[in-house]
Amino acid sequence: MKNRTLLGEACIPGGDRVLKLYQSKDDCTIVISGRGELMSTRRHASEDALGTLACDLLAQNENAHILIGGLGMGFTLAAALAATGVGSSVVVAELVPEVVEWNKGPLGDYSGQPLQDARTTIYAGDVSELLQKSVPSYDVIALDVDNGPEALSSGGNDWLYSVEGITCARESLKTGGVLAYWSATPDARFAKRLRECGLQVTEKSVFAHGSKGTKHTIWLATVS
Ligand SMILES: C[S@@+](CC[C@H](N)C(=O)[O-])C[C@H]1O[C@@H](n2cnc3c(N)ncnc32)[C@H](O)[C@@H]1O
Repeated sequence: MKNRTLLGEACIPGGDRVLKLYQSKDDCTIVISGRGELMSTRRHASEDALGTLACDLLAQNENAHILIGGLGMGFTLAAALAATGVGSSVVVAELVPEVVEWNKGPLGDYSGQPLQDARTTIYAGDVSELLQKSVPSYDVIALDVDNGPEALSSGGNDWLYSVEGITCARESLKTGGVLAYWSATPDARFAKRLRECGLQVTEKSVFAHGSKGTKHTIWLATVS
């Protein structure tokens, strides 16, 4: 194991898993107990793509209202801010309060401190709570709260990938809105479920870093 310093530890609410933030010479990693690396500042191209691809699909994204589920290391947030205009606003729901604090510190430097952007608001809690309102509020909803449809970090996240969760997310979109999901792996059953919920779906396979190696999956769904 290379030299690294433990910068912080946090319990994930509602479960028994623990997140640990480490810093080494060139990067930071967030590790989840019993599973290994959840994220690294070395590889974030697919997290960037989640924010960029979803915002680029909007017919007009100068004044977009965006919801991001899962702050993590802030890369999706930074990409969404870069892809939208000065009149836009982004709500980021983050379940683990310490993750927000980590991003206000040295971790935030890796993504360009997007929490300091005046367009950003943090919702300290579960993104499901916002989606359950089912009020058409958002032009983009971008969800990266877990490893994918098979929830890893919090069992409660299964709901977000269920018919009920997808339906609430769909109902939370404004006309012409985009619902985007990130996943570590493809999942044909989940893509089928999105279509069965009345969504038109494009599946993108995106390199985690550079132009070779591991690829991640992004689903971009719009109301058909
Ligand atoms: C893989 S990371 C997100 C990475 C992020 N896309 C980025 O660019 O760095 C997942 C994040 O979602 C948070 N999370 C997990 N479940 C959540 C939920 N139900 N609501 C809000 N945040 C959640 C985790 O604490 C973690 O910070």
